[in-house]
Amino acid sequence: MPNTNDTLPPPPFKIKMVEPIKLTTLMDRKKHLKAAGYNIFNIPAEEVYIDLLTDSGTSAMSDNQWSGLMLGDESYAQCRNYFHLESVVKEITGFEYVIPTHQGRSAENLVCFALNLDETKVAISNQFFDTTRANIESIGAKAHDLVVQEAFNTSVYHDFKGNMDIHALEEYLNQNSNVAVIILTVTNNTGGGQPVSLENIKSVSQIARKYKIPFFLDAARFAENAYFIKLREKGYSDYTPIQIAQKMFSYVDGCMMSAKKDGLVNIGGFIALNNANLYNRIKERMVITEGFPTYGGLAGRDLETMARGLNEVLSEDYLQYRYQQLQYLGNKLEKANIPILLPVGGHSVNLDARKFLPHIPQSEFPGWALTIALYEMFGIRCVELGSVMFAYQNEDEKWVYPELELVRLAIPRRVYSREHLDYICQSIIELYKSREKIKGLRMTYSPDFLRHFTARFEPITE
Ligand code: F0G
Repeated sequence: MPNTNDTLPPPPFKIKMVEPIKLTTLMDRKKHLKAAGYNIFNIPAEEVYIDLLTDSGTSAMSDNQWSGLMLGDESYAQCRNYFHLESVVKEITGFEYVIPTHQGRSAENLVCFALNLDETKVAISNQFFDTTRANIESIGAKAHDLVVQEAFNTSVYHDFKGNMDIHALEEYLNQNSNVAVIILTVTNNTGGGQPVSLENIKSVSQIARKYKIPFFLDAARFAENAYFIKLREKGYSDYTPIQIAQKMFSYVDGCMMSAKKDGLVNIGGFIALNNANLYNRIKERMVITEGFPTYGGLAGRDLETMARGLNEVLSEDYLQYRYQQLQYLGNKLEKANIPILLPVGGHSVNLDARKFLPHIPQSEFPGWALTIALYEMFGIRCVELGSVMFAYQNEDEKWVYPELELVRLAIPRRVYSREHLDYICQSIIELYKSREKIKGLRMTYSPDFLRHFTARFEPITE
């Protein structure tokens, strides 16, 4: 059932260092928006009061991690921090081979290469994150999403909205023999940080084995997913987060991880798997693109902070606080009748922009307009997961718009306090009261791939 508790337990950490942030003026923010081509990615970070653009690489590291930096072994090959990372990843995932990469998308790129993806192949996911999709599509392969239908209804409650639609998967595999890999994204970022159940991972695993298709986890938020399983899936309430994580990994052939999320680091990632052939192909390739296989584009000190972060993220106190922080924010907004995606996900609260701004058609980017208004009025930066990110032109050059038009408030780990969360709530509630005044936008520059990063806009004023 949904969590309706609107209290927040005291955090399991205290503050040792602070970073000043400034409240800018409305006039300044208007000026910055104009100069940025109304693209929030172009706003200087110093001009943002609360930055909810992403939970990726934005975590506050612990004193334990910072002290690990000083123990970085910067040897080119076989540095001691690699062996530490290897042992931590092996303990959590049970995989034989561990390959560090500088972040998640480089892991994706190497796995696509090792699996020989090309124009003739298809990759299937519950929902691909945009960089994973771009890595697959940029080499000509097809990326196909098969998440459960509940994922597309923001007001219906479902414990595991990130689950793969098992029947659709079997049907697809019966009709197509060119599927080269199945990847479950845990939690499902594109769908609002929604978890995948262990039962679902197990069912996908059985199907993948039956059809002899490699099965991977995109494990960027594996610890948050494990905590949802503990809370919501029958039979796991007495398991520790690491025991649940170990079970999750036991059903798959390998994983790709952006450690910038549940690794609690500012940079880093890895691939872990059992197949020796894939491992060798990745090792050979990465020397050209990432670096020697024991450092993978990172410094020894980065490997050390990643090893330590992966241990810390599985602390139950930490995960409980993290979960409650998101619930607190979501419940407050829900109580004020703000349309949000329910239930609240693991790393983000998502506003339903089509319901928030019903007067703006998708061709005028309501989600984008909402992100612009939140920055302009309150200095809060967040990201659109809607028409700018996902709309595409079909063969008849007609625009196809996504079903969901979300605005993601991604909460960095161990960074913002309850007072910040209250400020975010008050701002959104205030904006909602004057929502009719918010106008749509016209795109004036549109790149071919990942257009949200560099597109430019102008407000529609008439
Ligand atoms: N997979 C998932 C599920 C992600 O959310 C991301 C990044 C990646 C892979 C790529 O990892 O950034 O280390 O290369 N998500 C960030 C976000 C960018 O804001 O959600 P990366």
